[in-house]
Amino acid sequence: MQIGIIAEVGGLLLIAAVSVRAAISIYSIAGRRAHANRQDREYIQLFEFLSSSILKKFEAEREKPELSWTGKRKFRVVRRQYEDYNNDICSFFLAPYDHRPLPPYRPGQFLTFELPIAGQPQPVVRCYSLSDSPTVNQQYYRISIKRLAPPPHAPPGTPPGLSSNYFHDNLREGDIVEVLAPSGEFCIDQQSERPVVLIAGGVGLTPLISMLNALAASRSKREIWFFYGVRNRGDHAMYDHLQRVRRQNPNVRTVIFYGDPTSKCRKGIDYDVEGFVSVELIKSLLKARNYKFYVCGPPPMMELVTTGLEEWGVPADDIMFEAFGPASLKKTAKLEDAAGESDDAGRQEPAKIFKVVFARSKKTVQWTKSMGTLLDLAEANGVKARCGCRAGNCGTCVTPLRQGEVDYVHKPGKDPEPGYCLPCIALPKSDLVIDI
Ligand SMILES: Cc1cc2nc3c(=O)[nH]c(=O)nc-3n(C[C@H](O)[C@H](O)[C@H](O)COP(=O)(O)OP(=O)(O)OC[C@H]3O[C@@H](n4cnc5c(N)ncnc54)[C@H](O)[C@@H]3O)c2cc1C
Ligand code: FES
Repeated sequence: MQIGIIAEVGGLLLIAAVSVRAAISIYSIAGRRAHANRQDREYIQLFEFLSSSILKKFEAEREKPELSWTGKRKFRVVRRQYEDYNNDICSFFLAPYDHRPLPPYRPGQFLTFELPIAGQPQPVVRCYSLSDSPTVNQQYYRISIKRLAPPPHAPPGTPPGLSSNYFHDNLREGDIVEVLAPSGEFCIDQQSERPVVLIAGGVGLTPLISMLNALAASRSKREIWFFYGVRNRGDHAMYDHLQRVRRQNPNVRTVIFYGDPTSKCRKGIDYDVEGFVSVELIKSLLKARNYKFYVCGPPPMMELVTTGLEEWGVPADDIMFEAFGPASLKKTAKLEDAAGESDDAGRQEPAKIFKVVFARSKKTVQWTKSMGTLLDLAEANGVKARCGCRAGNCGTCVTPLRQGEVDYVHKPGKDPEPGYCLPCIALPKSDLVIDI
């Protein structure tokens, strides 16, 4: 099926390209420049029209489930490449071990990995965004991973990040990893004509680079802004690539923020603004609010940016964001809701307390807002629960909900089936019986 689409897409593009070439050369030979220029433009317009129709068809095809796979699939690491001076972010290029065709993905989606890390009682599950644009004849996927050291003020002996260090230190070219199919709803709509703003912090640039590359590859005419904040040149990932995209696409504007530039960082060349990504500056550059915003970065940056945009009057539906870590974003507000509402006279109702039965573990506990999500509650009570992203994105924690109702800290990346819930972002709305 996919080969058919690829052949069709490839064939049409080839015919279109050959037509353009043939037309251009025939008219050049004849020396009828003025006429030829007009014809060139017409053929190029035709080519663009064909490309965009094919893209639309391709978009529709990619939704078909037979192009994807279920469960785990083996991939071979075919290449590694550092993306920053500090060698903290490394890209891994993954080709399917079975050599069968790869489904294209939507720019912004991620892969989920199950890693057999020595000393861990069970496979470690982590998600990594696809960090390049999908292509028609997808030969490999690319992910880009930042190595995580222990947090700055962690007590001595705190271990570094399990999965990121496993990738950096253990996975060499030729090694095999097990991967779940691309998923996630933090995706750009390539058929839309709306102007778009991509706001990235640190390694949060990965899904946004995928979107940027996809827009550039489809020769989109949309107005595109790319805001990217890092510490300094040492952390600045995909430097040459970003410069190239900016040069080759007049509709792409990039603004680079360095929070802590060194004396070697060149303002106006390496970066544009000293300081953190600032909504005030974004507002002054954009002037209007009618953009679709995509935000991914460290939680404090995301909180500041999404709140700032909402305060500016950007409708919540126009602000898409993805949390890489625990679902901290928007969690506070939901937990405050759960703390108890005020009545009409402003009197605070008592905080909610619910009974939660972990049926398989045969444990019954009480939940109040200070206990966080159902996953937090389970772990705090010694109940082992399977999880991956802890952010409602990967589906690893999906669990049958036998009785009761839950609310979510934020909308799940993919809604669970009726009768199931995602404990990593779920808060009780009533007494519950859950199958953990
Ligand atoms: C949808 C999605 C997409 C993502 N895409 C990317 C991507 O493209 N690139 C990327 O790099 N990441 C991405 N992530 C994040 C990634 O999934 C991992 O969360 C990240 O790599 C950290 O995992 P880890 O196993 O290395 O660290 P973990 O082992 O989970 O540790 C996290 C941090 O906690 C510290 N720590 C460990 N134990 C303790 C302790 N006892 N006390 C205090 N601190 C402790 C560690 O030192 C580390 O700093 C994505 C996440 C999601 C949900
Ligand atoms: S752990 Fe990923 S959805 Fe819950």
